[in-house]
Amino acid sequence: MSILKHLAIIMDGNGRWAKQKGKIRTQGHKEGINTLREITTWCAKNNIAYLTLYAFSTENWNRPKTEVDFLMKLLEKYLIQEKQTYLENNIRFKTIGNIEAFNEPLKQTIQSLEADTATNSSLTQILALNYGSRDEIKRACEKIIQTKAYSKESDMGSLIQSHLDTKDIPDVDLLIRTGGEMRLSNFLLWQASYAELFFPPILWPDFTSDDLAKIIQDFKNRTRRFGGL
Ligand code: IPE
Ligand code: IPE
Ligand code: MG
Repeated sequence: MSILKHLAIIMDGNGRWAKQKGKIRTQGHKEGINTLREITTWCAKNNIAYLTLYAFSTENWNRPKTEVDFLMKLLEKYLIQEKQTYLENNIRFKTIGNIEAFNEPLKQTIQSLEADTATNSSLTQILALNYGSRDEIKRACEKIIQTKAYSKESDMGSLIQSHLDTKDIPDVDLLIRTGGEMRLSNFLLWQASYAELFFPPILWPDFTSDDLAKIIQDFKNRTRRFGGL
């Protein structure tokens, strides 16, 4: 039976969900917050150690400014309003990605929620914010050069691993992308090298903890060989 420590989710399909309902795209993002809360608390109650969620990619800046601005405001509101959910469920909040690009109030909100939940010990929820795998690997290499961490004895693979944003987090075991599209869109390319992949057709606002439980059941029955026999 496969062990699930680290679950990663690409929360996709908000825009299509809104379109189907005759609403504007941003309504889909708003609705997606409810799924985010349900899935996160379910993971905390079901012994999952790490949950990483793709919330904003380095490529998402290419969307219209109105949508990007809406997403930034929604994120800030979510982090403020949901503080209670993190505390009540003993959830630690972390981020990966380069948050330097965000405005000062949003950065402050992120940093204070990280600090306020730092000692929580059920689930670690990791939001990928302004995250892209290529950018993460590039920043890791820059850090290695800047700090002169490399010497002739170094193992470059371990050095890269230990300079990634995910340095203290185990590799991804199970990766789910809702919305049915079968691509990774620059998400955790290094960390998900041996992840089991699932692409349910369900749009993110319609995705439920029952859908997740079924996928996990399926995951547990898969045989992971890691190149061996
Ligand atoms: C994912 O939903 C949410 C973000 C990228 C922030 P989309 O907005 O990509 O929804 P679709 O894929 O257009 O339906
Ligand atoms: C991936 O979804 C990013 C997030 C879910 C945050 P996108 O909808 O941005 O990906 P593409 O553009 O379809 O590849
Ligand atoms: Mg999408």
